[in-house]
Amino acid sequence: MKVKFYESQREYHEKKDEFNRALQLVLEKGNFILGDQVAQLENEIQAYCQVKYAVGVASGTDALTIASDILGFKDGKEVITSPFTFLASASCITKHRGRPVFVDINEETFGIDVNKIEEKVNPNTIGILPIHLFNQMADMDRIMDIAEKHQLRVLEDAAEAFGMRWKGKGSEYKHSGTIGDFGVFSFFPTKTLGGYGDGGMIVTNNEELAQKAKQYRVHGASKKYYYDNVGYNSRLDTLQAAILLVKLKYIDEAIRKREKVAHLYMDHLSDCENIRFPKIKGQQKSVFYVFTVLAENRDELAAYLTENEIGYSIYYPRPLHVQACFKDLGYKIGDFPVAERVAKEIIALPIYPEITKDEVEFVCEKIKAFYRNK
Ligand SMILES: Cc1ncc(COP(=O)(O)O)c(C=O)c1O
Repeated sequence: MKVKFYESQREYHEKKDEFNRALQLVLEKGNFILGDQVAQLENEIQAYCQVKYAVGVASGTDALTIASDILGFKDGKEVITSPFTFLASASCITKHRGRPVFVDINEETFGIDVNKIEEKVNPNTIGILPIHLFNQMADMDRIMDIAEKHQLRVLEDAAEAFGMRWKGKGSEYKHSGTIGDFGVFSFFPTKTLGGYGDGGMIVTNNEELAQKAKQYRVHGASKKYYYDNVGYNSRLDTLQAAILLVKLKYIDEAIRKREKVAHLYMDHLSDCENIRFPKIKGQQKSVFYVFTVLAENRDELAAYLTENEIGYSIYYPRPLHVQACFKDLGYKIGDFPVAERVAKEIIALPIYPEITKDEVEFVCEKIKAFYRNK
């Protein structure tokens, strides 16, 4: 049996007529740039996430860069974040000459260690950029307390966190991205809410920030050909919005299916002592966007999976503080030992709503066979 890491065609074939009709409507109308479907998706995401404003942009990376620009994460200012994430969580800061200040991750969640944030705050610090990764949100109670105490701005990288909700010590669940000043989502195809190409969204409850985001995505124009700031050309494509509107209709079902797949993995792998699962912490609703584990002899296991035609991914093989593009920040190997250790052990197994029980069980059997024969 061959098990791909992700296969978008299964979903497309299941709902082919709906996707085709949605695309056809855009093509017939010809409203490719900021067409009706973009506004409709923004409205529906506002309702789904219970947030006042949503602004569709070209990618999650652009969403982060635009939000960082607006929040002043630039010109030598420091922003505290995790080194164990996708590049864009930190490149959005360096893009405008801001300085990411990394703190190590928690051993059990692989997310930013909130106990290490405050010691990094100094008069030059402007913000905190938590990333909601590995199926869970960062401890937003703690982060918002520190931000309030030191008057810092908070940009939530919720690129991987569509559908996740945080309650913490509060009285109600709040959707990822809606607690800080700005939050961003990515609609990269593999994401829980993924398009058939690139796309992203900025969300906020602050009207002034929302207006700025809307201007910045059209070159900084307050009205056509009148520019208040130098912005970007970064609009969510109407064709992608049409696809995403179809997918949003089924999002809760997709989340439930992902959860079922994750539980299958946990049931089948819990007796395998060479594999460890991350722990979900804090009162929150997680979403299984990925299924990552820590595996002994990770690289050998990865090679074995390839031999057996099983897809996998490694998020992230090299933490950001030791990436060549950030060498000017002056970090070195050994600065963040937990992130460095997890990078050597982590592996993500195939998970998406359409993957079958047989496929998941096959992956688990192969993993166990690998360790049995070691
Ligand atoms: C944590 C994180 N931040 C940012 C991004 C960037 O999103 P995009 O690929 O839509 O530019 C991604 C997605 O790949 C991500 O996983």
